[in-house]
Amino acid sequence: MGVMGFWTIALALVVNVCMVCDGGTTSLFLREVEKAVDMPLDSDVFAVPSGYNAPQQEFSFLLLFESMSVHITQGDLVGKAVIVSWVTEDEPGSSKVRYWSENSNHKKIAEGKLVTYRFFNYSSGFIHHTTIRNLEYNTKYYYEVGLGNTTRQFWFVTPPEVGPDVPYTFGLIGDLGQTFDSNKTLSHYELNPRKGQTVLFVGDLSYADNYPNHDNVRWDTWGRFTERSVAYQPWIWTAGNHEIDLVPEIGETIPFKPYTHRYHVPYKASQSTAPYWYSVKRASAHIIVLASYSAYGKYTPQYQWLDQELLKVNRTETPWLIVLMHSPWYNSYNYHYMEGESMRVMFEPWFVKHKVDVVFAGHVHAYERTERVSNIAYNIVNRHCTPVKDQSAPVYITIGDGGNIEGLAKNMTEPQPKYSAYREASFGHSIFEIKNRTHAHYSWYRNQDGEAVEADSVWFFNRYWHPVDDSTSHVLH
Ligand SMILES: [Fe+2]
Repeated sequence: MGVMGFWTIALALVVNVCMVCDGGTTSLFLREVEKAVDMPLDSDVFAVPSGYNAPQQEFSFLLLFESMSVHITQGDLVGKAVIVSWVTEDEPGSSKVRYWSENSNHKKIAEGKLVTYRFFNYSSGFIHHTTIRNLEYNTKYYYEVGLGNTTRQFWFVTPPEVGPDVPYTFGLIGDLGQTFDSNKTLSHYELNPRKGQTVLFVGDLSYADNYPNHDNVRWDTWGRFTERSVAYQPWIWTAGNHEIDLVPEIGETIPFKPYTHRYHVPYKASQSTAPYWYSVKRASAHIIVLASYSAYGKYTPQYQWLDQELLKVNRTETPWLIVLMHSPWYNSYNYHYMEGESMRVMFEPWFVKHKVDVVFAGHVHAYERTERVSNIAYNIVNRHCTPVKDQSAPVYITIGDGGNIEGLAKNMTEPQPKYSAYREASFGHSIFEIKNRTHAHYSWYRNQDGEAVEADSVWFFNRYWHPVDDSTSHVLH
């Protein structure tokens, strides 16, 4: 063998070793590393609606803490109801929502209720929650909240009727916070030409708990910051660890107090007994929201609910089965490593049995997409404890890169595990665009690029109707 031949074989061996140990792509995208900084209280995105006890669009320094932040979410199981929530600061005002379809001048009125809460030395405004019911599918509605000359008007479009071939486009945002990076993430999502119709939010909203005594003013500012999207399209909420707000040393002993007072979800419609786990159907998707920070061991309410819930999923009606949770099960960053492991052990066999299409999680402040893998063979003694390729398993996507104050997770486990198809430490958002019962286009957008540049994209083949291998890596066996 000549010298050239030797080096050729040596090079081939090196390449081969890399192919075996490298499961997918670790992006080499280089970015300027700057600290994520919260936007100051007088930022225009936090602009307080002026006028006594009610909102306008203009900003007023004098009325900085007299706020109204409006948001909506799905209000029933199938998308014919909407929960409208908002805050009035000075006095209760009215919990009425006036609404009408764009084809009608007849204003209807829905009556709601209001709640308040205290958190250490903070007293909330009057938080209104009003559910509008019996809406027509696929219809634009205008709605108004507030009284007299401080009335504010918004609109939303109801989803199409639940059915198997209904196209629908979901945005994915997680761990958003309220930094300049958060603002960029939200702006990119709003400008994305794929036009998300509903946000699937995978937890960690305001990061108010990073402030002294969990300064709940930062819950108010987050509400005003996100209003420009969430007053016009529903965000489907998942509870993260930054929603727990448990601070016994200052007397705050009720977990999730600010979150549950401010963000209502239609959990009873799916027979859930708590707002942290529930489901909704929307267009051709059945969306299950799980709670990483509520008990999920055997016999717990969440365990029993999910056991029954999975039996109710009808893939002929809703071909796409999507699960949201906060703490990821498959995560190859050195942050929150294996925090999702105990829930994975409990529920992963069910996900494979019921052929979940995709699981979206947050928590890790970076991006990662896996191949279809499962790790359910292990039984303590058989040593089968490595994830294996599994066409009945979901793809796991970590999208905790909304841009919060804690910054990016840049430290990854090496080598990249075989199950990890793509990972990159950049802020961004994703779009899951369902085309029909067999195909969905998925794409991830890093904030450094223009909002239309797909940094990672893949076609999803539905696990029930078209369970063909849709993996992007060929090194996994
Ligand atoms: Fe988190």
